[in-house]
Amino acid sequence: MHILIAQMRRLRTLALSVLAVATIGQVAFAASIDITDQSFRCMRDMTPVRHFYVDNLAGDLQGTLAAANNPKGAIYPPGSVVQLVPTEVMVKREQGFNPATGDWEFFELSVNDKGSTIGKRGFAEVNNRFGKNCFGCHAPAREPWDFVCESDHGCEPIPIDHKMTGALQRSDPRCGEPQLESGDTWALWKLRALVALGTTIDWFKNLF
Ligand code: HEC
Repeated sequence: MHILIAQMRRLRTLALSVLAVATIGQVAFAASIDITDQSFRCMRDMTPVRHFYVDNLAGDLQGTLAAANNPKGAIYPPGSVVQLVPTEVMVKREQGFNPATGDWEFFELSVNDKGSTIGKRGFAEVNNRFGKNCFGCHAPAREPWDFVCESDHGCEPIPIDHKMTGALQRSDPRCGEPQLESGDTWALWKLRALVALGTTIDWFKNLF
């Protein structure tokens, strides 16, 4: 009996030290992905995947690409950055940081030729500046796509097509001169016209 109790104590000590190491690991990692205005850059310097761009602030770009290219969907690794347009970003935080959003933090940026400024940031509570909730729209893509909507992962569609998002990417002011392709001027014009006519939801008025 005594031997059993002693063994259980040893096991408990072992379990506590494993927990301590895991906690220290997480704290160290949390410190290493401090996200500031400087964490964001010219979208086109990130890595393209289909019609969007990815990056990894913790150095695991291969892990991010593997998740993004998994045809069955996958959980993106911590540090992952995903962007479709210059002003809206999802960043994957440390595991367990915010289970409700799958540890994604949502950011709304202002961008100009000098760089990026974080407007809003946070988790399920973050609305964009027009009151639309990032998480609310992205939630239907929770499984198995880890909240990444793309075109066919179950999210309510947005009224901008990939010609328009491509034109916004090619005119990201943080990248210097716009590198427009044929048709981009027309796509941007259409986008502005949609906004001016008020025929579209408010949230993307802030895209340019
Ligand atoms: C009206 C619904 C809606 C709102 C609000 C919304 N999104 Fe999205 N978002 C989408 C859809 C749909 C896509 C995919 C569009 C496509 O590729 O055709 C998308 C794409 C993205 C992508 C590219 C990766 C992906 O999921 O395909 C990021 C990053 C993103 N949104 C971030 C945000 C952030 C940050 C906010 C809030 C500031 C936000 N979104 C608000 C619906 C929304």
